[in-house]
Amino acid sequence: MQKRKQTNRRRTIGFLVGITLSVAVLTILLVPQNSWMISAGPMNSGHEKLDCEECHRAAQGTIRQQLQANVQYLLANRDKSVYLKRQPVSNSDCLACHRRPKDNHPVFRFFEPRFKKARQKIQPQYCNSCHKEHSGKRVTMDLTNCVVCHEKLTLKKDSVDVSHKTLIKHKRWDTCLGCHDFHGNHKMKLKTKILQMHDKKRIVAYFDGENSPYSKEKHFKAKETRNDTNQ
Ligand code: HEC
Ligand code: HEC
Ligand code: HEC
Ligand code: HEC
Ligand code: HEC
Repeated sequence: MQKRKQTNRRRTIGFLVGITLSVAVLTILLVPQNSWMISAGPMNSGHEKLDCEECHRAAQGTIRQQLQANVQYLLANRDKSVYLKRQPVSNSDCLACHRRPKDNHPVFRFFEPRFKKARQKIQPQYCNSCHKEHSGKRVTMDLTNCVVCHEKLTLKKDSVDVSHKTLIKHKRWDTCLGCHDFHGNHKMKLKTKILQMHDKKRIVAYFDGENSPYSKEKHFKAKETRNDTNQ
């Protein structure tokens, strides 16, 4: 009897300490905008002038409602927690400005079952995997990632002087972006001679923020703001 009382009391204390800690953590998560601003890294190429809210959408409800909902969640009265103040940035945020009627590698395709292995390796189903924001760059993926999906590539008719078959046999995955872009958004004619391709250094420089080596002209332009309905 005595023992059970003790365990009960211990449980109550543990419970109260838990709640106090949780509320403290939640409060820290809710500290003003400022501390949040400081922790952001440099914006990626082209994003220097965007408002934070263009990507970081407010979560639903007032902060008080969000806080209450999360306390209810911690008390096990709710199945799900809610996002505090901001939702995570997702493909739909990027597509709000970058939606294109045509893309050689649209992210949604990579949710298909046959890309399971690719998803495990490089998560190609998210814009963020290859364009990690706040890194001050344009592209953050490894430039040889084409290997993940094109290892078995065969062309019926190959007009390149050093054939795709040969390039792949010698594992020259560093050459692909020397001729091809990834999304197919640059207006250009594909080169057919290996000596005409852009070298790897130029591609890396482009990834890091320098001008595009492919062409200045694009098929589709990004919107300046997601509420822009003119384009
Ligand atoms: C082009 C879209 C974009 C813009 C604009 C943007 N961010 Fe981000 N930010 C991201 C993405 C993507 C992440 C990765 C984490 C995630 O998915 O929420 C991130 C993460 C962060 C993080 C770390 C994770 C977190 O939520 O605490 C901070 C801090 C942050 N951003 C602050 C800012 C601030 C401040 C601004 C405005 C100066 C800003 N961001 C503008 C896309 C953006
Ligand atoms: C509010 C609109 C907006 C949102 C949201 C947005 N972008 Fe952008 N983005 C732009 C604009 C404008 C540019 C600069 C013009 C351009 O280069 O097309 C740009 C440039 C870029 C570039 C470089 C393009 C180049 O050729 O230099 C990449 C890559 C990019 N955005 C990816 C993303 C990703 C990934 C996200 C989601 C995390 C995102 N963007 C969200 C508007 C947006
Ligand atoms: C598997 C990696 C990968 C994913 C996923 C990816 N990109 Fe890219 N992206 C690249 C590479 C590589 C380049 C550079 C080659 C080029 O310009 O096409 C690039 C270039 C770009 C550019 C600049 C050239 C252009 O097309 O205008 C924009 C803008 C862009 N990506 C936006 C996005 C958005 C938005 C998403 C998600 C809907 C996304 N990317 C998903 C790899 C990726
Ligand atoms: C996550 C898988 C994946 C990755 C990574 C990937 N691709 Fe692809 N790529 C595809 C798929 C799927 C197609 C469409 C072909 C098909 O339907 O079988 C494609 C098509 C293409 C095409 C033909 C586009 C057209 O329609 O004319 C080119 C060129 C190409 N990829 C180049 C690249 C290059 C260069 C890289 C590396 C930067 C790369 N791919 C990385 C999956 C991928
Ligand atoms: C010297 C330039 C060059 C290089 C390097 C190159 N390609 Fe190509 N690629 C082309 C051309 C040109 C075509 C158009 C088809 C043709 O006429 O041969 C093409 C076509 C393709 C296609 C479309 C095939 C189809 O069914 O239409 C894919 C996918 C592709 N290349 C992927 C790659 C990959 C992956 C690499 C790297 C191993 C690569 N390419 C390296 C020039 C190049």
